[in-house]
Amino acid sequence: MQPSTLHPLWCIEQSHFDPQTQRHWETVFTTGNGLFCTRGVFEEGHRGEERAAFMHGLFDDVPVHFTELVNLPDALELEIFLNGERFSLEQGQVLEFHRWLDMRTGLLEREVRWRSPQGHTTRLHFARFISLADPHLMLIRFLIHPLDYQGEIEVRAGLNGETDNLQYKHWEWLAQETSSQQAWLVCSTRKTNLPIALGAHLHVESHTPVERAGWDVRNHPVLVTRTFASPEHPISGEKIVYIYSGRETPDPQSAVRARLAQTEAPLWDHAWPVHAHTWEREWEACDVIIEGDEEAQRAVRFSIFQLLIAAPRQDERVSIGAKTLSGYGYRGHVFWDTEIFMLPLFTYTRPEIARNLLSYRWHTLEGARRKARRNGYKGAQYPWESAATGDEVTPTWVPHYADPTRLIRIWTGDIEIHISADIAYAIHQYWRATGDDEFMRDRGSEIILDTARFWANRAEWNPDRHRYEYTDVIGPDEYHDHVDNNAYTNYLARWHLQTALELLEWLKVHAPDRHANLVQRLELTPTELAHWQDVIHKLYCPFDPQTGLIEQFEGYFQRKDVRLADLEPRNVSIQVLFGIEGANETQAIKQPDVLMLLYLLPELFNAEVVQANYDYYTPRTDHTYGSSLGPSIQAIMACRVGRPEEAYEHFMRAARADLDNVRGNAEDGIHGASAGGVWQAVVFGFAGLRISDSGWSLKPALPSHWKRIAFKFKWRGQPVCVEVTPQTSSQVMA
Ligand code: BGC
Repeated sequence: MQPSTLHPLWCIEQSHFDPQTQRHWETVFTTGNGLFCTRGVFEEGHRGEERAAFMHGLFDDVPVHFTELVNLPDALELEIFLNGERFSLEQGQVLEFHRWLDMRTGLLEREVRWRSPQGHTTRLHFARFISLADPHLMLIRFLIHPLDYQGEIEVRAGLNGETDNLQYKHWEWLAQETSSQQAWLVCSTRKTNLPIALGAHLHVESHTPVERAGWDVRNHPVLVTRTFASPEHPISGEKIVYIYSGRETPDPQSAVRARLAQTEAPLWDHAWPVHAHTWEREWEACDVIIEGDEEAQRAVRFSIFQLLIAAPRQDERVSIGAKTLSGYGYRGHVFWDTEIFMLPLFTYTRPEIARNLLSYRWHTLEGARRKARRNGYKGAQYPWESAATGDEVTPTWVPHYADPTRLIRIWTGDIEIHISADIAYAIHQYWRATGDDEFMRDRGSEIILDTARFWANRAEWNPDRHRYEYTDVIGPDEYHDHVDNNAYTNYLARWHLQTALELLEWLKVHAPDRHANLVQRLELTPTELAHWQDVIHKLYCPFDPQTGLIEQFEGYFQRKDVRLADLEPRNVSIQVLFGIEGANETQAIKQPDVLMLLYLLPELFNAEVVQANYDYYTPRTDHTYGSSLGPSIQAIMACRVGRPEEAYEHFMRAARADLDNVRGNAEDGIHGASAGGVWQAVVFGFAGLRISDSGWSLKPALPSHWKRIAFKFKWRGQPVCVEVTPQTSSQVMA
């Protein structure tokens, strides 16, 4: 078995192993297929690793965070004994280590030359992929080559149900069976009763006879082979793994057993071409080419790759969590990160996936209705953090980051209400780009209308100032909480109500039955709709015509001004530096808030307004250690004000978030929003793609060293190829 050929612009490589950084690399080397992902851990394990794999929708209850995605039973496990010595990078000598991910196909490989404590040298090669064509299949291939000895090689391939989520154990054993070549295991989550079945088949090829055994250890069946190898005769093999959960089939155990019964090993050469071909088609639709900047090229592909492996293709009842399926961070919960940051990639390149992601919000509408009701409002109020049901799952109290004996109240679940408008915005954007009237009629409209009811009902009339307001909220900038009239929230709420009214008109003409049904079910009476109009006209949306500035929230300009540049160098966020209360008293912001608004609703603001607000808010934003969601948006806005070099700095901050671990927390999982933002920064920032109701246009602003950008997007079902060079920008309809 030869390592595949590396292509530097498609490969992420690690040439040296350091246990200190292993968790970061595990995140980077996450592989998956939109149904499940595994972190890039070693097959044989390593002390200090964060060994985890996650499948969409498999949530179980936990204290404080309500629910979390469950770490799957471990199917990667391969323990190898070389002439009686356990192969482990924790001992002996690592003479050579090389690991690489080929993003074209999601193939992860590792080549190791290892000298055992007794002085025997072995070359080991591992390769694995999770099939994009056959979502329930994972294949691991290995080669074991003794270089200076001959002896017995024992391979143990387990299915381990004894996994946990760091603090909590979620799996309960249900059933298993082990023969000498195959094993299966069925477990169930403790509280949510979701079954999962895993099957394994171990195949070994050797010059000498292979002795086999199956150890039927409860909750940890293991397949064992023993054979001889020598410098002339290395051995190779495959571990074939199947995974089905009760979410895809009513009887996962039978599904796995049927697959095992049909297995003809070796399988790799048979399964690989169709998997690779599926990836090829995926990249045909989604790739972005950047010439003149290899680091940026790789980073953009990495961002797209990470989103593609987390994107549900067969399931419209799940969405992508803030940390994708690549780590424990945020427990698999779904935020506005999905709709505002990740979704555009899918909307414009893989609309079928975008439809699934938006359908998740439709399926969880009841949870949003419960939240509104509980808060005393009509309509639907989406949770800030969402999981299986759409009920709010933001923890209310968590231990203080510096002093875990103290608890901090987390307010986002109570008052970060802009999420409902963000979802409506994403649906509208999807509709505009795809022309998918059916989705809008059957699902999108119900979401937009019921959340509009919430906005109208939540608006507070201020008789003194003769206006509607939204008080006591949190905007995108979470350094400031309990603020009144956050501009982002108010402008988006107004846009949302207007859009809802226009949508009602559209439904009346194009889907009168659905219109009648929704009007009746959601109680959209003439009085209610007149109230929406009133809120639209009298909602306070801050804007100073003298300066062109939009005050982020009422009283923001009175807060203490700080020059963040004076605080450099620093390696902590402004909130850690000043404390939670301290940061709240300043004008320092965690991420673009007004600029985010200008980005999302460009038709409302002219170039002078954009410039004035860019100049005001940029130096007050915590670009380095604030939110990872910020830099990509900041890059886009820098392009809009004609500063591509400045944009490039912000862009690379986003592009490096996980590959270079610039924030120091990549081990918790991929920053999914940042990854989506990286794609947006190239497409909507540097290439300057602008979308409006009437169509699209380009206004490029390339960094000076970029020679070319090329990508495709879909406009109303038609593929469009875009190519931008410093001299020209051209578009060709494919
Ligand atoms: C950011 C939010 C984001 C969340 C999850 C927070 O730190 O401020 O905007 O939704 O992380 O990524």
